[in-house]
Amino acid sequence: MTVGGQTETARRVLVLNGPNLGRLGKREPSVYGTATYADLAVTCRQVGRELGFDVEVRQTEYEGELITWIHEACDNAIPVVLNAGAFTHYSYAVMDAVKMRTAPLVEVHLSNISAREDFRHQSVITGAATGIIAGFGLHSYVLALHAIAAQLAESAQKGPLTVRPMANTAGEPTAAGPDTREPDVL
Ligand code: DQA
Repeated sequence: MTVGGQTETARRVLVLNGPNLGRLGKREPSVYGTATYADLAVTCRQVGRELGFDVEVRQTEYEGELITWIHEACDNAIPVVLNAGAFTHYSYAVMDAVKMRTAPLVEVHLSNISAREDFRHQSVITGAATGIIAGFGLHSYVLALHAIAAQLAESAQKGPLTVRPMANTAGEPTAAGPDTREPDVL
């Protein structure tokens, strides 16, 4: 990307996928659609380019590997789009890793987990993430990349946050509206 005649390095974004997501296309197409994992990767890289990101898409069947990738993102302030697959519903280890994030992290799901079996209604990750997008198929990832772009743009505009604005005594947001930035998000 070129800004004011200077070449800017695109900001890295990791799109991390947990178990069974490499089998998209073959896996329960009535639930997850017919798009393949390769389609997902191409879409994310393409949308990322349009948003000025250098998107890297990864998938693993292993909890430890996923956690190591989240650590990498935490150590380097890299924004993340995370579909932890079934780890979403029970992995406190993934949640603890997400808690250390230093940049926006958007939890995504292809399916609407709240409309499925009871055990999928709970995500142990959501509380540690910036937010969650579920139920839009591949488009969940596209929306997540846009959400990250919006968060980064907002933070860049407002500058580093040192003090959270206080709500008034009625608990209502201040005139400027709620400040959704987090102290450690660049
Ligand atoms: C999923 C939903 C999870 O419940 C499931 O275990 C997955 C995929 C989704 O993208 O809809 O593997 O995360």
